[in-house]
Amino acid sequence: MHLTPADIAALGEIVGHYPHKRAACIDALKYMQARHGYVSDQSLEAIAVLLDMSPAELDEVATFYNLIFRKPVGEKVIYLCDSVTCWMLGRDKIARKIQDLIGIRQGETSTDGRYTLLPIVCLGHCDHAPAMMIDDRLFGDVEPGQLPGILEPPD
Ligand code: FES
Repeated sequence: MHLTPADIAALGEIVGHYPHKRAACIDALKYMQARHGYVSDQSLEAIAVLLDMSPAELDEVATFYNLIFRKPVGEKVIYLCDSVTCWMLGRDKIARKIQDLIGIRQGETSTDGRYTLLPIVCLGHCDHAPAMMIDDRLFGDVEPGQLPGILEPPD
């Protein structure tokens, strides 16, 4: 995926908000993801040139932030908390039910491209563990039986 003229213009505007080019790296990555769904190797290399960074430096930033995707993901991303409270209160049962319903395990995308299931560190919703998030919707006290309604799986 190459940068389009529109991408280059938008990224230039983002960079202009910062005193140093590399300070714009998170916003630049978020822009690319919002526009193209993920940040491809080619995009990352092109953005790195714009920011006067090496691709390796920018990739370190991209992989540090677990909300930046380096590979294509489904239309909906399910983030299932894998921190300690959720582990203790049944996140494995939730993961198994998701696998039963839509056939994906952690790190996988459904064959129809609708869902990707990813682990995530504590969502800050421990008092309602197990917790999960779908895109920007947060769910707590999740029971396996609630998942069909939460996921709205295809018929
Ligand atoms: S441990 Fe899961 S929300 Fe905090």
